Amino acid sequence: MRMYDLIMKKKHGEALSEAEIRFFVNGYTKGEIPDYQVSAFLMAVCFNGMDEAETLALTMAMAESGEMLDLSAIHGLKADKHSTGGVGDKTSLILGPMVASLGVPVAKMSGRGLGHTGGTIDKLESFPGFSVSISNEQFIRNVNHMKLAIIGQTAELAPADKKLYALRDVTATVDQLSLIASSIMSKKLAAGSDVIVLDVKAGSGAFMKTFEDAKRLAETMVKIGNGAGRRTYAVISDMNQPLGFAVGNILEVKEAIEALNGRAPEDLNDACMTLASYMLLGAERVKEITEAKELLCETVRSGAALRKLAEFVKAQGGDERYVYEPDRFPKASLTYEVKAETEGYITSMNTEEIGLTSLVLGGGRETKESEIDLTVGIVFKKKIGAKLTKDDTIAVLHANDRERLTAAITRFQNAIRIEQAPCEPIPHILGVVEQS
Ligand code: URA
Repeated sequence: MRMYDLIMKKKHGEALSEAEIRFFVNGYTKGEIPDYQVSAFLMAVCFNGMDEAETLALTMAMAESGEMLDLSAIHGLKADKHSTGGVGDKTSLILGPMVASLGVPVAKMSGRGLGHTGGTIDKLESFPGFSVSISNEQFIRNVNHMKLAIIGQTAELAPADKKLYALRDVTATVDQLSLIASSIMSKKLAAGSDVIVLDVKAGSGAFMKTFEDAKRLAETMVKIGNGAGRRTYAVISDMNQPLGFAVGNILEVKEAIEALNGRAPEDLNDACMTLASYMLLGAERVKEITEAKELLCETVRSGAALRKLAEFVKAQGGDERYVYEPDRFPKASLTYEVKAETEGYITSMNTEEIGLTSLVLGGGRETKESEIDLTVGIVFKKKIGAKLTKDDTIAVLHANDRERLTAAITRFQNAIRIEQAPCEPIPHILGVVEQS
């Protein structure tokens, strides 16, 4: 087999066989096929696409290019959730304990913040002592014992995707549906869970800006997951504004604790209830979504979900007292209230810019090596649809550095649009994709 022939085939819009796709993925991972040939191939995929069978074959080849986590030592059907990346998304911290407290094992690999989006690992490290670097054996023991453990993504997970993603990034070949779907799903399949619930975001803070694009990505990923023998669901959710009120690591952890105390903002509650319900359904803990929602409400009401968060934090070395006494978390030294300059309605937000405002404050990484400031961020007081009178506080910025704060204020103000005509609040859940 020659890479040249595969490029030619794709250039003419022909479908590649599974053997051909494996040849290219394995050859590239081992360094036997050069970047320039793979670049040409990826560009041909951008123009001519891949069909369902090719997309599944590419996903499997990338998933199997490294370690496939073996979770068979964990009893029962394991459920995982993956978000395509958003601003203010703290759902894993809430639904992990909710689902685990109902007896469904959650063995999760999470990532760090990237660009304008936050990451679960950074948020969890807000608990003093918390570590995601536990051994595979400890990970499995914890899930068997208390149904919940979260670790960081290892370099051995889908190395072919890592190498291909880096190449796509510099050859303008990131935004192709099959390439995005196979990239995300290769890591989820390698992470080993039986049930995969995807949260595909749509809007100004998301990778996919429109509902239609998000739906196409959701459908493609659900097909891949089911094709690979995993029960897969995708929830399409709005990212035209941050999720909940808090953006920034400790601020989000505190909002997650509030949610587990039964005081979640409506959009965050909808997100957690919907995603967690599909985790319970896929894991056969319930037969119907309505039954799942009842159980989830009860586990929050009884305090069992909050206790599960404390148990999980402690098991991974963290100080669980912070779960019950969130005032222990350190606070940023400066706060600034952004006020409405005129009356009107908030009609839209540039959510990516809001994520970048948090990054400018120090809450995200400018380079891979940057240290992040866990205390800074934004707490919204008003969101889309809110009526404002002059001098109403729209949000409070939390900072530790005056220069960063000044830059963040301008950025934030430019990201919020206020108009005179009323505007309806936007729903958070836009759709669900099940087996198609
Ligand atoms: N996230 C991924 O992991 N891969 C992509 O291709 C795009 C977003």
